[in-house]
Amino acid sequence: MTSPLILGLESSCDDSAAALLRGREVLASVVKGQNELHAEFGGVVPEIAARAHAERLDTCVEEALAEAGVTLQQVDAVAVTAGPGLIGGVLSGVMLAKGLATGLGVPLVGVNHLAGHALTPRLTDGLAFPYLMLLVSGGHCQFLIVRGAQDFSRLGGTIDDAPGEAFDKTARLLGLSQPGGPSVEARARAGDERRFRFPRPLLDRPGCDMSFSGLKTALLRQRDQLIADQGGLHAQDVSDLCAGFQAAVRDVLTEKARRAIALYLDEAPSEPALAVAGGVAANQSLRGSLQALCAETGVRFTAPPLRLCTDNAAMIAYAGGELLAAGVTHDMSLSARPRWPL
Ligand code: KG4
Ligand code: ZN
Repeated sequence: MTSPLILGLESSCDDSAAALLRGREVLASVVKGQNELHAEFGGVVPEIAARAHAERLDTCVEEALAEAGVTLQQVDAVAVTAGPGLIGGVLSGVMLAKGLATGLGVPLVGVNHLAGHALTPRLTDGLAFPYLMLLVSGGHCQFLIVRGAQDFSRLGGTIDDAPGEAFDKTARLLGLSQPGGPSVEARARAGDERRFRFPRPLLDRPGCDMSFSGLKTALLRQRDQLIADQGGLHAQDVSDLCAGFQAAVRDVLTEKARRAIALYLDEAPSEPALAVAGGVAANQSLRGSLQALCAETGVRFTAPPLRLCTDNAAMIAYAGGELLAAGVTHDMSLSARPRWPL
């Protein structure tokens, strides 16, 4: 029996996306970002995002159908992000999904966006349950043990900013371009990470919780000190600040990952694996450090390709497929949820 053809929709933050999946085969994945709409405001504006989703989601669906070479009538189920996220955007997706599912007479499945990220390593690498997941992006930062499509244990996460947010703020403070992660990483390559010593918050406390908001305050203070002492910032200063900041984020995430791995290995998984996902997983310094930790602890390291580890609809279609296989479907009462912890 062939797997059902699933249409996935995602609109919880600033990416409008549609995808078509059959089993683990991604037939199409269309993502329309909104960076240009929010750039002048220095962050995502919920009203603007909601309007853009409402205007673009149907085009995403059309493009995905064309890319996959299928018709809407061939779709067997519609999966949609039902939260957590910016409510106007989530509503756009849920309304469209309800209309499509009703019109086509096929099942509707509401998916938790975080579950979409967390199940992606099964789509890309066929990971077996249970595996350990580090979700690290502009909006998320948490360690999860993924035991099933609806069975997640959160071991800890950030108590304030997500690391991507900290990278973005650091870039802003140093006059570098957005998104901050890639520009800070590029400058850090020419920097000396030992010149400025930034704090490693919460390492003195047990558990897997993290904090990143103090880092940008430390960076701001260091930057202002340099400006006061020498009348401005030299290119080398910026590189050294970037390197020091990146090293602090990497060290905190790696040390907390060590603790998360210890908790996870207590469950004696048959094929232990750590997967990282989210935009910050693109950071080479962090990847290298996590890879070394995995080699040391005998855990397989995987990271989905970036296009599937940042926001996309293929992960929503995949998670929807797993839910559908477990007998989960929703009716017209499916609501959009701004908050929805796993
Ligand atoms: O997953 P994502 O595309 O969107 C969500 O936040 O959901 O992640 C975007 C974040 C941004 O904050 C960006 O600065 C960060 O990921 N990022 C990076 C790198 N590339 C993207 N952070 C550190 N190093 C990178 N190379
Ligand atoms: Zn996300």
